[in-house]
Amino acid sequence: MKKTENHLLVIFGASGDLTARKLIPALFNLYVAKQLPKNFTVLGASRSNLTDEEFRDRVVHNSPYLKEKLSDLKDIYVSGFSNMLYYEDLGSDYTAEYSKLNNRIQQLNTERGTDNNMMFYLSTPPNLYEAIAENLAQVGLNNQDSGWKRLIVEKPFGYSLETAKNLNRGLQRFFKEPQIYRIDHYLGKETVQNLLVTRFSNSIFEPLWNRNYIHHVEITNAESVGVEKRGGYYDKSGALRDMFQNHLLQIVSLVVMEPPIGDQPEEIRNEKVKALKSLRVMRDEATLFENTIRAQYVASEINGKKVKGYREEDGVNPDSTTETYAAVKFYVDNWRWHGVPFYVRTAKRMPTKVTEVIIHFKTPHHQIFQDSGVSSKDNKLIIRIQPDEGILVKFGVKVPGQGFKVERANLDFYYSSLAETYVMEAYERLLLDAMQGDATLYARADEVEAAWEFVDPILEYWKNGKDVRMYGYAAGVWGPENADDLIEDLGYWRNPEQNLADDPGYCVIC
Ligand code: BG6
Repeated sequence: MKKTENHLLVIFGASGDLTARKLIPALFNLYVAKQLPKNFTVLGASRSNLTDEEFRDRVVHNSPYLKEKLSDLKDIYVSGFSNMLYYEDLGSDYTAEYSKLNNRIQQLNTERGTDNNMMFYLSTPPNLYEAIAENLAQVGLNNQDSGWKRLIVEKPFGYSLETAKNLNRGLQRFFKEPQIYRIDHYLGKETVQNLLVTRFSNSIFEPLWNRNYIHHVEITNAESVGVEKRGGYYDKSGALRDMFQNHLLQIVSLVVMEPPIGDQPEEIRNEKVKALKSLRVMRDEATLFENTIRAQYVASEINGKKVKGYREEDGVNPDSTTETYAAVKFYVDNWRWHGVPFYVRTAKRMPTKVTEVIIHFKTPHHQIFQDSGVSSKDNKLIIRIQPDEGILVKFGVKVPGQGFKVERANLDFYYSSLAETYVMEAYERLLLDAMQGDATLYARADEVEAAWEFVDPILEYWKNGKDVRMYGYAAGVWGPENADDLIEDLGYWRNPEQNLADDPGYCVIC
Protein backbone atom coordinates (compact mmCIF):
# COMPACT_ATOMS: atom_id res chain seq x y z
CA MET A 1 0.00 0.00 0.00
CA LYS A 2 1.24 3.50 -0.85
CA LYS A 3 2.05 5.84 2.01
CA THR A 4 -0.05 8.95 2.67
CA GLU A 5 2.15 11.64 4.18
CA ASN A 6 1.04 14.06 6.89
CA HIS A 7 -0.57 17.10 5.32
CA LEU A 8 -2.98 20.01 5.54
CA LEU A 9 -5.94 20.15 3.17
CA VAL A 10 -7.28 23.64 2.52
CA ILE A 11 -10.74 23.67 0.92
CA PHE A 12 -11.72 26.92 -0.81
CA GLY A 13 -15.50 27.21 -1.07
CA ALA A 14 -15.87 25.20 2.14
CA SER A 15 -19.32 26.53 2.99
CA GLY A 16 -20.65 25.32 -0.37
CA ASP A 17 -22.68 22.27 -1.25
CA LEU A 18 -19.85 20.11 -2.65
CA THR A 19 -17.87 20.25 0.59
CA ALA A 20 -20.78 19.04 2.70
CA ARG A 21 -22.20 16.61 0.12
CA LYS A 22 -19.06 14.97 -1.23
CA LEU A 23 -15.73 16.09 0.23
CA ILE A 24 -16.33 15.77 3.95
CA PRO A 25 -18.20 12.42 3.60
CA ALA A 26 -15.29 11.15 1.48
CA LEU A 27 -12.78 12.27 4.13
CA PHE A 28 -14.92 10.72 6.82
CA ASN A 29 -14.91 7.38 5.00
CA LEU A 30 -11.12 7.61 4.72
CA TYR A 31 -10.98 8.30 8.46
CA VAL A 32 -13.13 5.25 9.22
CA ALA A 33 -11.01 3.12 6.89
CA LYS A 34 -7.86 4.42 8.67
CA GLN A 35 -6.51 5.78 5.41
CA LEU A 36 -5.77 9.29 6.64
CA PRO A 37 -2.21 10.02 7.75
CA LYS A 38 -1.37 10.39 11.43
CA ASN A 39 -1.25 14.18 11.27
CA PHE A 40 -4.03 15.37 9.04
CA THR A 41 -5.91 18.65 9.17
CA VAL A 42 -8.59 20.31 7.06
CA LEU A 43 -8.91 24.07 6.89
CA GLY A 44 -12.16 25.19 5.29
CA ALA A 45 -11.98 28.66 3.77
CA SER A 46 -14.78 30.70 2.26
CA ARG A 47 -16.79 33.87 2.58
CA SER A 48 -19.21 32.75 5.30
CA ASN A 49 -18.67 33.94 8.82
CA LEU A 50 -18.27 30.65 10.75
CA THR A 51 -16.26 29.54 13.76
CA ASP A 52 -14.42 26.22 13.77
CA GLU A 53 -17.23 24.75 15.88
CA GLU A 54 -19.96 26.04 13.57
CA PHE A 55 -18.14 24.59 10.57
CA ARG A 56 -17.80 21.20 12.31
CA ASP A 57 -21.49 21.22 13.18
CA ARG A 58 -22.50 22.12 9.67
CA VAL A 59 -20.43 19.58 7.76
CA VAL A 60 -20.22 16.76 10.32
CA HIS A 61 -22.50 16.70 13.37
CA ASN A 62 -25.61 18.18 11.72
CA SER A 63 -24.85 17.13 8.16
CA PRO A 64 -27.73 15.37 6.38
CA TYR A 65 -25.08 13.62 4.26
CA LEU A 66 -23.47 11.93 7.28
CA LYS A 67 -26.52 11.43 9.44
CA GLU A 68 -26.98 7.74 8.71
CA LYS A 69 -23.30 6.92 9.08
CA LEU A 70 -22.94 8.78 12.38
CA SER A 71 -25.98 7.25 14.01
CA ASP A 72 -24.17 3.99 14.87
CA LEU A 73 -20.94 5.59 15.99
CA LYS A 74 -19.80 6.79 19.39
CA ASP A 75 -19.58 10.60 19.82
CA ILE A 76 -15.96 10.41 20.83
CA TYR A 77 -15.09 8.60 17.62
CA VAL A 78 -16.96 11.18 15.49
CA SER A 79 -15.29 14.04 17.38
CA GLY A 80 -11.94 12.44 16.60
CA PHE A 81 -12.75 13.29 13.01
CA SER A 82 -14.46 16.64 13.41
CA ASN A 83 -11.65 17.96 15.62
CA MET A 84 -9.38 17.75 12.57
CA LEU A 85 -11.52 20.40 10.87
CA TYR A 86 -10.94 24.15 11.14
CA TYR A 87 -12.39 27.15 9.42
CA GLU A 88 -11.11 30.52 8.20
CA ASP A 89 -13.40 33.32 7.03
CA LEU A 90 -11.94 34.92 3.91
CA GLY A 91 -14.06 38.05 4.32
CA SER A 92 -15.78 39.55 1.35
CA ASP A 93 -13.51 38.32 -1.36
CA TYR A 94 -11.35 35.36 -2.52
CA THR A 95 -9.12 37.72 -4.39
CA ALA A 96 -8.01 39.86 -1.46
CA GLU A 97 -4.47 39.06 -0.33
CA TYR A 98 -3.86 35.95 1.75
CA SER A 99 -1.50 36.99 4.55
CA LYS A 100 -4.14 36.32 7.23
CA LEU A 101 -4.98 32.97 5.66
CA ASN A 102 -1.30 32.16 5.39
CA ASN A 103 -0.78 32.92 9.11
CA ARG A 104 -3.54 30.49 9.98
CA ILE A 105 -2.11 27.86 7.65
CA GLN A 106 1.37 28.21 9.15
CA GLN A 107 -0.01 28.10 12.68
CA LEU A 108 -2.00 24.92 12.00
CA ASN A 109 0.91 23.38 10.16
CA THR A 110 3.16 23.86 13.20
CA GLU A 111 0.60 22.92 15.85
CA ARG A 112 -0.66 19.85 14.02
CA GLY A 113 2.63 18.64 12.57
CA THR A 114 1.56 18.51 8.94
CA ASP A 115 5.16 18.74 7.71
CA ASN A 116 4.62 21.65 5.27
CA ASN A 117 2.71 19.37 2.89
CA MET A 118 -0.38 21.14 1.60
CA MET A 119 -3.21 20.42 -0.76
CA PHE A 120 -5.47 23.25 -1.94
CA TYR A 121 -8.88 22.15 -3.16
CA LEU A 122 -10.68 24.78 -5.26
CA SER A 123 -14.39 24.21 -4.94
CA THR A 124 -15.28 27.74 -6.02
CA PRO A 125 -16.64 29.21 -9.26
CA PRO A 126 -13.95 28.60 -11.92
CA ASN A 127 -13.49 32.30 -12.61
CA LEU A 128 -11.71 32.47 -9.23
CA TYR A 129 -9.21 29.65 -9.88
CA GLU A 130 -6.45 31.76 -11.32
CA ALA A 131 -6.79 34.52 -8.71
CA ILE A 132 -6.64 31.95 -5.89
CA ALA A 133 -3.57 30.30 -7.43
CA GLU A 134 -1.90 33.71 -7.77
CA ASN A 135 -2.71 34.69 -4.18
CA LEU A 136 -1.34 31.39 -2.90
CA ALA A 137 1.82 31.91 -4.90
CA GLN A 138 2.25 35.44 -3.58
CA VAL A 139 2.52 34.15 -0.03
CA GLY A 140 4.83 31.33 -1.14
CA LEU A 141 2.27 28.52 -0.85
CA ASN A 142 3.26 27.09 -4.23
CA ASN A 143 6.85 26.56 -3.14
CA GLN A 144 7.95 22.95 -2.74
CA ASP A 145 11.40 23.53 -1.24
CA SER A 146 10.04 22.17 1.99
CA GLY A 147 6.98 19.92 1.70
CA TRP A 148 4.77 19.37 -1.35
CA LYS A 149 2.06 21.75 -2.53
CA ARG A 150 -0.80 20.50 -4.73
CA LEU A 151 -3.80 22.20 -6.28
CA ILE A 152 -7.03 20.31 -7.05
CA VAL A 153 -9.51 22.03 -9.36
CA GLU A 154 -13.13 21.08 -9.95
CA LYS A 155 -14.94 21.11 -13.26
CA PRO A 156 -15.98 22.95 -15.36
CA PHE A 157 -12.46 23.35 -16.64
CA GLY A 158 -13.05 26.07 -19.19
CA TYR A 159 -16.09 26.95 -21.22
CA SER A 160 -14.45 26.41 -24.61
CA LEU A 161 -11.06 25.47 -26.03
CA GLU A 162 -9.84 29.03 -25.74
CA THR A 163 -10.96 29.51 -22.13
CA ALA A 164 -9.53 26.11 -21.15
CA LYS A 165 -6.18 27.06 -22.68
CA ASN A 166 -6.22 30.41 -20.88
CA LEU A 167 -7.04 28.69 -17.61
CA ASN A 168 -4.25 26.15 -18.10
CA ARG A 169 -1.76 28.89 -18.84
CA GLY A 170 -3.08 30.97 -15.96
CA LEU A 171 -2.67 28.16 -13.41
CA GLN A 172 0.69 27.10 -14.81
CA ARG A 173 2.05 30.60 -14.14
CA PHE A 174 1.83 29.82 -10.44
CA PHE A 175 1.86 26.01 -10.11
CA LYS A 176 3.79 23.50 -12.20
CA GLU A 177 1.70 21.02 -14.21
CA PRO A 178 2.58 18.05 -11.95
CA GLN A 179 1.21 20.07 -9.00
CA ILE A 180 -2.18 20.56 -10.69
CA TYR A 181 -4.88 17.89 -10.29
CA ARG A 182 -7.99 18.40 -12.49
CA ILE A 183 -10.71 16.29 -10.98
CA ASP A 184 -13.24 14.35 -13.05
CA HIS A 185 -15.32 12.31 -10.65
CA TYR A 186 -16.16 9.71 -13.31
CA LEU A 187 -12.53 8.62 -13.24
CA GLY A 188 -12.99 7.88 -9.55
CA LYS A 189 -15.70 5.33 -10.30
CA GLU A 190 -14.53 1.72 -9.96
CA THR A 191 -16.40 0.72 -13.08
CA VAL A 192 -14.74 3.40 -15.19
CA GLN A 193 -11.31 2.27 -13.99
CA ASN A 194 -12.35 -1.27 -14.69
CA LEU A 195 -12.50 -0.41 -18.38
CA LEU A 196 -8.70 -0.46 -18.30
CA VAL A 197 -8.60 -3.78 -16.47
CA THR A 198 -11.23 -5.39 -18.70
CA ARG A 199 -9.25 -4.41 -21.74
CA PHE A 200 -5.68 -4.86 -20.65
CA SER A 201 -5.66 -7.73 -18.22
CA ASN A 202 -7.69 -10.19 -20.26
CA SER A 203 -6.57 -11.88 -23.39
CA ILE A 204 -10.11 -12.63 -24.53
CA PHE A 205 -11.26 -9.06 -25.26
CA GLU A 206 -8.27 -7.14 -26.53
CA PRO A 207 -7.68 -9.23 -29.69
CA LEU A 208 -11.26 -8.41 -30.73
CA TRP A 209 -11.06 -4.74 -29.71
CA ASN A 210 -10.75 -3.24 -33.18
CA ARG A 211 -12.44 -2.55 -36.50
CA ASN A 212 -12.19 -6.19 -37.62
CA TYR A 213 -14.60 -7.38 -34.96
CA ILE A 214 -16.40 -4.35 -33.56
CA HIS A 215 -19.34 -3.02 -35.50
CA HIS A 216 -20.05 0.06 -33.44
CA VAL A 217 -19.73 1.44 -29.94
CA GLU A 218 -22.62 2.96 -28.04
CA ILE A 219 -22.35 4.96 -24.83
CA THR A 220 -25.40 6.12 -22.93
CA ASN A 221 -25.46 8.40 -19.94
CA ALA A 222 -28.99 9.06 -18.74
CA GLU A 223 -30.27 10.82 -15.65
CA SER A 224 -33.85 10.78 -14.48
CA VAL A 225 -33.50 14.09 -12.65
CA GLY A 226 -33.85 17.48 -14.32
CA VAL A 227 -31.59 20.42 -13.60
CA GLU A 228 -32.85 20.62 -10.00
CA LYS A 229 -31.56 23.73 -8.21
CA ARG A 230 -28.74 24.29 -10.69
CA GLY A 231 -30.75 25.98 -13.47
CA GLY A 232 -28.59 29.11 -13.38
CA TYR A 233 -25.35 27.17 -13.87
CA TYR A 234 -26.79 24.62 -16.27
CA ASP A 235 -28.36 27.16 -18.60
CA LYS A 236 -24.89 28.56 -19.34
CA SER A 237 -23.48 25.09 -19.74
CA GLY A 238 -25.77 22.47 -21.31
CA ALA A 239 -25.38 18.72 -21.66
CA LEU A 240 -22.39 18.88 -23.97
CA ARG A 241 -20.29 21.00 -21.62
CA ASP A 242 -21.68 19.54 -18.40
CA MET A 243 -21.25 15.83 -19.17
CA PHE A 244 -19.91 15.11 -22.65
CA GLN A 245 -16.74 17.22 -22.80
CA ASN A 246 -15.46 15.78 -19.55
CA HIS A 247 -17.02 12.58 -18.15
CA LEU A 248 -18.09 10.98 -21.41
CA LEU A 249 -14.98 11.83 -23.38
CA GLN A 250 -12.95 10.39 -20.49
CA ILE A 251 -14.88 7.14 -20.93
CA VAL A 252 -14.38 7.34 -24.71
CA SER A 253 -10.63 7.77 -24.23
CA LEU A 254 -10.47 4.61 -22.12
CA VAL A 255 -12.38 2.63 -24.75
CA VAL A 256 -10.32 4.00 -27.64
CA MET A 257 -6.78 4.15 -26.21
CA GLU A 258 -3.92 1.86 -27.14
CA PRO A 259 -2.37 -0.32 -24.43
CA PRO A 260 -0.04 1.78 -22.28
CA ILE A 261 3.42 0.35 -21.68
CA GLY A 262 2.76 0.24 -17.93
CA ASP A 263 0.53 1.56 -15.20
CA GLN A 264 2.47 4.74 -14.43
CA PRO A 265 0.30 7.91 -14.53
CA GLU A 266 2.10 9.50 -17.46
CA GLU A 267 2.04 6.31 -19.51
CA ILE A 268 -1.72 6.01 -19.14
CA ARG A 269 -2.33 9.72 -19.61
CA ASN A 270 -0.17 9.84 -22.76
CA GLU A 271 -2.31 7.14 -24.35
CA LYS A 272 -5.53 8.89 -23.36
CA VAL A 273 -4.36 12.13 -24.94
CA LYS A 274 -3.44 10.26 -28.13
CA ALA A 275 -6.91 8.69 -28.15
CA LEU A 276 -8.66 12.05 -27.76
CA LYS A 277 -6.50 13.57 -30.45
CA SER A 278 -7.55 10.83 -32.85
CA LEU A 279 -11.27 11.67 -32.65
CA ARG A 280 -12.29 13.04 -36.04
CA VAL A 281 -13.19 16.67 -35.43
CA MET A 282 -16.35 17.60 -37.34
CA ARG A 283 -16.10 21.05 -38.80
CA ASP A 284 -18.46 21.48 -41.73
CA GLU A 285 -22.13 22.22 -41.20
CA ALA A 286 -23.43 19.28 -43.25
CA THR A 287 -21.43 16.78 -41.16
CA LEU A 288 -22.46 18.46 -37.94
CA PHE A 289 -26.10 18.49 -39.02
CA GLU A 290 -26.06 14.77 -39.77
CA ASN A 291 -24.10 13.66 -36.75
CA THR A 292 -25.35 15.66 -33.82
CA ILE A 293 -28.74 16.01 -32.17
CA ARG A 294 -29.68 18.34 -29.37
CA ALA A 295 -32.95 18.60 -27.52
CA GLN A 296 -34.67 19.99 -24.44
CA TYR A 297 -37.17 18.32 -22.14
CA VAL A 298 -40.65 19.76 -22.10
CA ALA A 299 -43.30 19.57 -19.38
CA SER A 300 -44.88 16.20 -18.87
CA GLU A 301 -46.32 13.85 -16.31
CA ILE A 302 -44.20 11.09 -14.81
CA ASN A 303 -45.96 8.45 -12.69
CA GLY A 304 -48.96 10.76 -12.31
CA LYS A 305 -46.77 13.68 -11.16
CA LYS A 306 -46.50 16.87 -13.19
CA VAL A 307 -42.93 17.67 -14.17
CA LYS A 308 -41.74 21.09 -15.35
CA GLY A 309 -40.24 21.63 -18.76
CA TYR A 310 -36.63 22.85 -18.91
CA ARG A 311 -37.59 26.40 -19.84
CA GLU A 312 -39.84 26.60 -16.79
CA GLU A 313 -37.08 25.57 -14.36
CA ASP A 314 -35.79 28.15 -11.83
CA GLY A 315 -32.81 30.09 -13.12
CA VAL A 316 -33.41 29.07 -16.75
CA ASN A 317 -34.10 31.66 -19.44
CA PRO A 318 -37.67 31.08 -20.74
CA ASP A 319 -36.28 31.34 -24.31
CA SER A 320 -33.26 29.19 -23.56
CA THR A 321 -31.62 27.23 -26.36
CA THR A 322 -29.45 25.22 -23.97
CA GLU A 323 -29.60 21.47 -24.63
CA THR A 324 -30.54 18.96 -21.94
CA TYR A 325 -30.06 16.10 -24.43
CA ALA A 326 -27.03 15.68 -26.66
CA ALA A 327 -26.26 12.79 -28.99
CA VAL A 328 -23.18 12.67 -31.19
CA LYS A 329 -22.02 10.18 -33.80
CA PHE A 330 -18.33 10.30 -34.64
CA TYR A 331 -15.36 8.35 -35.96
CA VAL A 332 -11.89 7.77 -34.66
CA ASP A 333 -9.11 8.31 -37.17
CA ASN A 334 -6.56 5.69 -36.37
CA TRP A 335 -5.59 2.19 -37.44
CA ARG A 336 -7.59 0.37 -34.78
CA TRP A 337 -10.89 2.19 -35.19
CA HIS A 338 -11.07 3.11 -38.86
CA GLY A 339 -14.70 3.05 -40.01
CA VAL A 340 -16.22 2.12 -36.63
CA PRO A 341 -18.94 4.60 -35.62
CA PHE A 342 -19.25 5.75 -32.03
CA TYR A 343 -22.66 6.87 -30.74
CA VAL A 344 -22.60 8.78 -27.50
CA ARG A 345 -25.56 10.42 -25.79
CA THR A 346 -26.23 12.12 -22.51
CA ALA A 347 -29.42 13.64 -21.15
CA LYS A 348 -31.48 14.72 -18.18
CA ARG A 349 -35.08 13.67 -17.48
CA MET A 350 -34.75 10.24 -19.05
CA PRO A 351 -36.80 7.26 -17.87
CA THR A 352 -34.01 6.02 -15.60
CA LYS A 353 -30.52 6.82 -14.32
CA VAL A 354 -27.97 4.72 -16.12
CA THR A 355 -24.52 4.90 -17.68
CA GLU A 356 -23.19 2.10 -19.84
CA VAL A 357 -20.79 1.31 -22.66
CA ILE A 358 -21.92 -1.21 -25.24
CA ILE A 359 -19.49 -2.83 -27.60
CA HIS A 360 -21.50 -4.25 -30.50
CA PHE A 361 -19.59 -6.96 -32.28
CA LYS A 362 -19.99 -7.75 -35.97
CA THR A 363 -22.18 -10.65 -37.06
CA PRO A 364 -20.21 -13.80 -37.86
CA HIS A 365 -18.69 -13.48 -41.34
CA HIS A 366 -20.62 -16.50 -42.60
CA GLN A 367 -24.08 -17.36 -41.31
CA ILE A 368 -24.52 -21.09 -40.95
CA PHE A 369 -27.61 -21.10 -38.79
CA GLN A 370 -30.60 -19.31 -40.22
CA ASP A 371 -31.74 -17.71 -37.06
CA SER A 372 -34.36 -14.99 -37.14
CA GLY A 373 -33.38 -11.38 -36.37
CA VAL A 374 -29.70 -12.21 -36.37
CA SER A 375 -28.55 -8.61 -36.44
CA SER A 376 -30.39 -7.73 -33.23
CA LYS A 377 -28.77 -10.74 -31.64
CA ASP A 378 -25.15 -9.94 -32.31
CA ASN A 379 -22.62 -10.43 -29.58
CA LYS A 380 -22.48 -7.52 -27.24
CA LEU A 381 -20.28 -6.61 -24.33
CA ILE A 382 -22.10 -4.28 -21.97
CA ILE A 383 -20.06 -2.49 -19.36
CA ARG A 384 -22.40 -1.03 -16.81
CA ILE A 385 -20.85 2.02 -15.15
CA GLN A 386 -23.91 2.61 -12.90
CA PRO A 387 -26.21 1.49 -11.32
CA ASP A 388 -26.20 -2.31 -10.94
CA GLU A 389 -22.51 -2.09 -11.77
CA GLY A 390 -21.19 -5.02 -13.72
CA ILE A 391 -20.41 -6.59 -17.07
CA LEU A 392 -22.71 -8.51 -19.36
CA VAL A 393 -21.71 -10.55 -22.39
CA LYS A 394 -24.43 -11.55 -24.81
CA PHE A 395 -23.70 -14.62 -26.85
CA GLY A 396 -25.56 -17.24 -28.88
CA VAL A 397 -26.71 -20.61 -27.55
CA LYS A 398 -28.65 -23.40 -29.17
CA VAL A 399 -32.29 -23.65 -28.26
CA PRO A 400 -32.84 -27.28 -27.10
CA GLY A 401 -34.74 -29.36 -29.61
CA GLN A 402 -34.51 -30.20 -33.25
CA GLY A 403 -32.56 -28.08 -35.70
CA PHE A 404 -30.21 -25.23 -34.83
CA LYS A 405 -32.27 -22.40 -33.57
CA VAL A 406 -30.04 -19.81 -31.91
CA GLU A 407 -30.94 -17.51 -29.05
CA ARG A 408 -28.98 -15.00 -27.02
CA ALA A 409 -27.90 -15.82 -23.50
CA ASN A 410 -26.27 -13.63 -20.86
CA LEU A 411 -23.01 -14.15 -19.06
CA ASP A 412 -22.79 -11.62 -16.30
CA PHE A 413 -20.70 -10.29 -13.44
CA TYR A 414 -21.96 -7.90 -10.76
CA TYR A 415 -19.83 -5.85 -8.40
CA SER A 416 -22.46 -6.45 -5.72
CA SER A 417 -21.43 -10.11 -5.70
CA LEU A 418 -18.08 -9.07 -4.24
CA ALA A 419 -19.69 -8.84 -0.82
CA GLU A 420 -16.42 -8.74 1.08
CA THR A 421 -14.97 -5.90 -0.94
CA TYR A 422 -15.41 -2.31 0.10
CA VAL A 423 -15.95 -0.16 -3.00
CA MET A 424 -14.72 3.40 -2.45
CA GLU A 425 -16.83 6.38 -3.48
CA ALA A 426 -15.39 8.34 -6.42
CA TYR A 427 -14.31 11.34 -4.33
CA GLU A 428 -12.81 9.11 -1.67
CA ARG A 429 -10.60 7.36 -4.17
CA LEU A 430 -9.61 10.54 -5.97
CA LEU A 431 -8.77 12.44 -2.79
CA LEU A 432 -6.67 9.56 -1.55
CA ASP A 433 -4.81 9.39 -4.86
CA ALA A 434 -4.05 13.12 -4.78
CA MET A 435 -2.89 12.83 -1.16
CA GLN A 436 -0.44 10.18 -2.35
CA GLY A 437 0.66 12.19 -5.38
CA ASP A 438 -0.87 9.79 -7.89
CA ALA A 439 -2.34 11.73 -10.82
CA THR A 440 -3.36 8.73 -12.97
CA LEU A 441 -7.04 9.46 -12.50
CA TYR A 442 -6.75 13.20 -12.98
CA ALA A 443 -6.94 15.00 -16.31
CA ARG A 444 -3.77 16.58 -17.67
CA ALA A 445 -3.78 19.99 -19.39
CA ASP A 446 -3.33 18.58 -22.90
CA GLU A 447 -6.05 15.99 -22.27
CA VAL A 448 -8.60 18.65 -21.36
CA GLU A 449 -7.61 20.72 -24.37
CA ALA A 450 -7.88 17.73 -26.74
CA ALA A 451 -11.43 17.12 -25.48
CA TRP A 452 -12.36 20.76 -26.06
CA GLU A 453 -10.84 20.63 -29.55
CA PHE A 454 -13.48 18.01 -30.45
CA VAL A 455 -16.38 19.69 -28.67
CA ASP A 456 -15.79 23.33 -29.67
CA PRO A 457 -17.02 23.08 -33.30
CA ILE A 458 -20.20 21.29 -32.18
CA LEU A 459 -20.94 24.05 -29.70
CA GLU A 460 -20.17 26.68 -32.29
CA TYR A 461 -22.48 24.98 -34.80
CA TRP A 462 -25.26 24.66 -32.25
CA LYS A 463 -24.90 28.34 -31.46
CA ASN A 464 -24.57 29.82 -34.93
CA GLY A 465 -25.27 27.04 -37.47
CA LYS A 466 -27.77 27.64 -40.27
CA ASP A 467 -29.86 24.49 -40.15
CA VAL A 468 -29.40 23.65 -36.52
CA ARG A 469 -32.53 22.43 -34.74
CA MET A 470 -33.59 22.16 -31.14
CA TYR A 471 -35.95 19.24 -30.60
CA GLY A 472 -38.25 18.71 -27.67
CA TYR A 473 -38.91 15.52 -25.71
CA ALA A 474 -41.43 14.91 -23.00
CA ALA A 475 -39.71 14.64 -19.62
CA GLY A 476 -39.41 10.94 -18.82
CA VAL A 477 -38.92 9.49 -22.32
CA TRP A 478 -35.77 8.39 -24.16
CA GLY A 479 -35.16 11.70 -25.95
CA PRO A 480 -36.72 13.32 -29.00
CA GLU A 481 -38.66 11.33 -31.56
CA ASN A 482 -35.91 11.58 -34.12
CA ALA A 483 -33.19 10.41 -31.70
CA ASP A 484 -32.99 7.12 -33.57
CA ASP A 485 -32.22 8.93 -36.86
CA LEU A 486 -28.62 9.22 -35.81
CA ILE A 487 -28.28 5.50 -35.34
CA GLU A 488 -30.76 4.63 -38.11
CA ASP A 489 -28.55 2.36 -40.19
CA LEU A 490 -28.06 0.18 -37.11
CA GLY A 491 -31.59 0.14 -35.81
CA TYR A 492 -31.98 1.76 -32.45
CA TRP A 493 -30.28 2.72 -29.22
CA ARG A 494 -30.27 0.13 -26.47
CA ASN A 495 -32.52 1.88 -23.99
CA PRO A 496 -31.36 0.19 -20.83
CA GLU A 497 -33.46 -0.66 -17.84
CA GLN A 498 -32.37 -0.09 -14.29
CA ASN A 499 -30.92 -3.56 -13.98
CA LEU A 500 -28.10 -4.65 -16.20
CA ALA A 501 -29.75 -7.83 -17.44
CA ASP A 502 -33.30 -6.54 -17.67
CA ASP A 503 -33.55 -7.82 -21.23
CA PRO A 504 -32.16 -11.19 -20.37
CA GLY A 505 -32.53 -12.90 -23.73
CA TYR A 506 -32.97 -16.61 -23.52
CA CYS A 507 -31.69 -17.43 -20.06
CA VAL A 508 -29.31 -16.18 -17.44
CA ILE A 509 -26.14 -18.08 -16.70
CA CYS A 510 -24.68 -16.90 -13.41
C1 BG6 B 1 -21.88 16.34 -12.77
C2 BG6 B 1 -22.82 17.16 -13.58
O1 BG6 B 1 -20.56 16.52 -13.18
O2 BG6 B 1 -22.22 14.97 -12.92
C3 BG6 B 1 -24.26 16.94 -13.17
O3 BG6 B 1 -22.51 18.54 -13.42
C4 BG6 B 1 -24.58 15.46 -13.22
O4 BG6 B 1 -25.16 17.66 -13.99
C5 BG6 B 1 -23.53 14.66 -12.47
O5 BG6 B 1 -25.84 15.28 -12.61
C6 BG6 B 1 -23.75 13.17 -12.69
O6 BG6 B 1 -22.87 12.44 -11.87
P1 BG6 B 1 -23.21 10.93 -11.46
O7 BG6 B 1 -22.00 10.47 -10.75
O8 BG6 B 1 -24.44 11.00 -10.60
O9 BG6 B 1 -23.48 10.21 -12.74
